[in-house]
Amino acid sequence: MEKSKKYILSIESSCDDTSAAVLCNKKVLSNVVATQEIHKQYGGVVPELASRAHQQNIVPVVHQALAKANIDKKQLSAIAFTRGPGLMGSLLVGTSFAKSLALGLNIPLIEVNHMEAHILAHFIEHDNQSIPSFPFLAMTISGGHTQIVKVIDHFQMEVLGQTLDDAVGEAFDKSAKLMGLPYPGGPLIDKYAQLGNPHAYEFPKPKVDGLNFSFSGLKTSILYFLQRETRKDPDFISKHINDICASVQYTILEILMEKLQMAVNQTGIHQVAIGGGVAANSGIRQRLKDAEENLGWSTFIPKFEYCTDNAAMIGIVGYLKYEKGAFSDQSIAAKARYAIGG
Ligand code: KG4
Ligand code: ZN
Repeated sequence: MEKSKKYILSIESSCDDTSAAVLCNKKVLSNVVATQEIHKQYGGVVPELASRAHQQNIVPVVHQALAKANIDKKQLSAIAFTRGPGLMGSLLVGTSFAKSLALGLNIPLIEVNHMEAHILAHFIEHDNQSIPSFPFLAMTISGGHTQIVKVIDHFQMEVLGQTLDDAVGEAFDKSAKLMGLPYPGGPLIDKYAQLGNPHAYEFPKPKVDGLNFSFSGLKTSILYFLQRETRKDPDFISKHINDICASVQYTILEILMEKLQMAVNQTGIHQVAIGGGVAANSGIRQRLKDAEENLGWSTFIPKFEYCTDNAAMIGIVGYLKYEKGAFSDQSIAAKARYAIGG
């Protein structure tokens, strides 16, 4: 018998992107993302401004998602929203909107953990896709998090290691800032790195036990390196931007791949997935493809639009929870610190 169709409207507002999506079961009908440009001039996300921009964006973004999906709100089966982790002022906008809409339409409300969603984005159905089977390893690499997670089931996850200081996306963004590049610098480092020599300059890798990461030392060594070189030649950065970016990116990718390899060795699990904004990086995508050939791993890389923050990934978790009947009631509150499985 054909499974009945469920339409889930999902809302993501954890940081500086306001996003809404409509899914029909596991397929995405629309996924609208409004990126807040206002933060660029401040070199990073300003929480108060993010919250205000979410308030302005949320109604038009939700309207657009419904219109693009060609779905009337009366057809919706449930509303899913990001409960956390994230910026409290930003989370509150999506949470209150989702709660009121679910109440008004008298349909179930489903809370979603943003970091679990980055992992479960792999279960969104689309063409030419292979889906990891359980158990698999997921490395979540974003602006706020860096973790290696053992995924035992959709909702049973174990964090094997994580960053002790900066997240990997922060390492990209802060390095870019030191080079005078605008926020968010990660995609720009990626762009310049493709034109440069990854071995032009050498940066030290941190020594951290087990599967944990550290990125704050790298930032400091890049700062000292740039200060030293620009004292000799004030135009050093602009002359060598491609090589600097390639070398910084190479060091970051070495750190990530070393720990991933260690996790594979420790667990004996050879299925490896990545998720989060940094999973959009062309270098890490290539390194995973190389690992398929050279190390015999099966690797899973989300479509580009499901790497950086988006509501489609919230929607797939919404659907999986809908199937389980895991609904929230109107007393649910946003949670700025919200661990995986927490
Ligand atoms: O997952 P995400 O959109 O938001 C968070 O939940 O944090 O991740 C944003 C991070 C930013 O640090 C951004 O610079 C980084 O992902 N990022 C990239 C690339 N695209 C986004 N970093 C390196 N290369 C990219 N192509
Ligand atoms: Zn994210």
